[in-house]
Amino acid sequence: MKGIILAGGSGSRLQPITNSISKQLVPVYDKPMVYYPLATLMQAGVREILVISAPSALPLFTELLGDGRRLGLELSYLPQEEPRGIAEALVLGERHLGGAPAALALGDNVFHGSTLQEHLWAGRERLDGCVLFGSPVSDPHRYGIAEVDGSGNLLSLEEKPPAPKSDLAVTGLYLYDGNASEVARNVRPSPRGELEITDVNAAYLEEKRSSIITLPPGISWADTGTPESLLSTSQYVYSLEKQERTRVACIEEIALRMGFIDSGACYNLGAEMQHSAYGQYVMNFAELWDDS
Ligand code: DAU
Repeated sequence: MKGIILAGGSGSRLQPITNSISKQLVPVYDKPMVYYPLATLMQAGVREILVISAPSALPLFTELLGDGRRLGLELSYLPQEEPRGIAEALVLGERHLGGAPAALALGDNVFHGSTLQEHLWAGRERLDGCVLFGSPVSDPHRYGIAEVDGSGNLLSLEEKPPAPKSDLAVTGLYLYDGNASEVARNVRPSPRGELEITDVNAAYLEEKRSSIITLPPGISWADTGTPESLLSTSQYVYSLEKQERTRVACIEEIALRMGFIDSGACYNLGAEMQHSAYGQYVMNFAELWDDS
């Protein structure tokens, strides 16, 4: 399975913060926002990842993450000239995917929970068409919304419906079979002029090849696209890291846990940031890790 992180868009809801910096480089507490979707894909076992962003922002992403080799990853980059819609990521990423199954992660979505990895792997295992991840929300008109029956089967999908049929939001992590680029190429712009990811998912649903995993209460999910959610997610990460003396979305730790790198390599990554608490955490974690 290959990954795509979509990290472009106008970031207009976060202006003026985003007047001179890409939204996905803005910090969520102690690390850049893009670390979170990257951590999610890594926990799903995905190592070949394409980062798509606005042409002007790509040099900064490259400076931040490089070619990924230090984390045991293969990262590549591609511009999206205009924010024409989330589904365009699958078209732009066609060459990268090369017909392989795909995991598409939105650059502003934060997932966390002790059973997250389990659910990601469950999604991979049941993949036949497309697998979505749902989470209940209090403001369903702001999201893609899924209607499910009593057994959890997906019945319908709607993008930002004025009269939502449920409160189950479709989160910004999508798993697809090898046909995703082809399906996305057939999507036409919506009335708001975007290539909607919900239309891709609905096309799979029409073939009865779209399913949804509802994330349990222990897994939190946030879309950090507004000033309020940016603050509340930062506060959440801060509290959790303080209480549990751990780090959320620490990509160096995850690379070590997943076996992408060894403890020496992890330690060195931490040592490069030794003057920060984050760097110290990575060094300590690597020191305590038993490579055998
Ligand atoms: O967060 C989950 C929601 O994300 C889903 O429930 C919706 O179905 C889905 O459409 C999307 O809704 P948003 O209104 O949050 O999408 P937004 O336009 O904010 O874009 C999400 C991310 O993708 C954001 O980081 C910007 C980036 N993006 C977006 C578009 C439209 C791009 O990089 N390029 C684009 O063309």
